[in-house]
Amino acid sequence: MTSDTAIGIHDLSFATTEFVLEHTVLAEYDGTDIGKYHVGIGQRSMSVPAADEDIVTMAVAAAAPITARHGVDQIRTVLFATETSIDQSKAAGVYVHSLLGLPSSARVVELKQACYSGTAALQLAIGLVRRDPSQRVLVIASDISKYDLDSPGEATQGAAAVAMLVSADPTLIRIEDPSGLYTADVMDFWRPNYRTTALVDGHQSIGAYLQALEGSWKDYTEQGGRPLSDFSAFCYHQPFTKMAFKAHRHLLNICGQDADPAEISRTLGLTTAYNSVLGNSYTASMYVALASLLDHADDLTDQAIGFVSYGSGSVAEFFAGTVVPGYQGHLRTAANREAIDRRQPLDHARYRELHGRSIPNDGGVHPVPRQTGAPVRLSALDHHKRIYELR
Ligand code: COA
Repeated sequence: MTSDTAIGIHDLSFATTEFVLEHTVLAEYDGTDIGKYHVGIGQRSMSVPAADEDIVTMAVAAAAPITARHGVDQIRTVLFATETSIDQSKAAGVYVHSLLGLPSSARVVELKQACYSGTAALQLAIGLVRRDPSQRVLVIASDISKYDLDSPGEATQGAAAVAMLVSADPTLIRIEDPSGLYTADVMDFWRPNYRTTALVDGHQSIGAYLQALEGSWKDYTEQGGRPLSDFSAFCYHQPFTKMAFKAHRHLLNICGQDADPAEISRTLGLTTAYNSVLGNSYTASMYVALASLLDHADDLTDQAIGFVSYGSGSVAEFFAGTVVPGYQGHLRTAANREAIDRRQPLDHARYRELHGRSIPNDGGVHPVPRQTGAPVRLSALDHHKRIYELR
């Protein structure tokens, strides 16, 4: 194979949680006009994890259909992107590697940079496949977005995991060079090691996102990237879906183009369908947007998609991908809709109870109540160890 062998996303699958909280329930509790949630931030419901779900159980649920379809033999690397890590030392992907029965002749590592690290994982995977195109890389982005109760961020919570198989001659998306890159030291969103909920200056984070978009687009064009007019769709990181619309308007403005609201709705609407009901899934969010686009668009064959990946703190990357002919035969549309539709609605008291749960840290043996119907559950904490159980 040559260095111009196409490399990209060969398969993509996502999973979410057992429970869902409708924004109408939150609005009734906190007295907010529902228009703020449905229109102002563009969210209708949020995924809420069961007591026995975490980033590992969601990751296994997302990746299992991929290993079932393609086997595990060519996977020599697992890259696990998350900003809601469960351990300061051990990579969450090692549990996933074991639960999926991946070969021992593999490397597994966890990556972090807020919501951006799924894209870092994808780009590292492409480099590994370029070095040896017979290998495949399993990229997983899995996160649970959790803010303090009664804080402005609460309405933007959510959870999901995306698994992607990165390979040569992919069936879904060829990822292109170049990438536009941008890093700036900003305190718009962070979570110190001693906190379970994130700290965020939401309004600052919107400005930081737009500035990072501008910086990464500028670098993309300087690196010889495509003109804006080449793109027929854009997948933005969506901390809340309205952010994608704000970002796209900004991109059009800096490119000196008209921001016609109907045109923006048409361009972005297909990418926000899943995130508007899942909520923020941090590292997974932009790839959920891609799944939503591929599942809902008529035919994107050979079309260029622009990707805008943003992680607070902050790092951004603008890159392009081309949709591979025949991609529709490899989508998981029915399974994706099922993952969303099967969630059980929560009332507000049950949601608060789940939100308030914390992992016991006394080193004892603590069984976890059985709640999830996922293929793997967290069954206990035992001497500080997480014990997972296959269904
Ligand atoms: N009907 C329709 N729209 C309404 C409304 C109503 N009744 N009430 C308010 N709105 C609109 C506001 O005009 C605003 O829209 P705009 O941004 O286009 O001006 C939007 O709803 C939000 O209202 P706002 O007063 O700004 O809400 P807030 O102070 O609660 O903050 C966030 C909103 C998004 C900043 C907050 O939820 C947050 O911090 N989220 C987390 C952000 C994040 O995740 N950042 C991380 C990385 S990018």
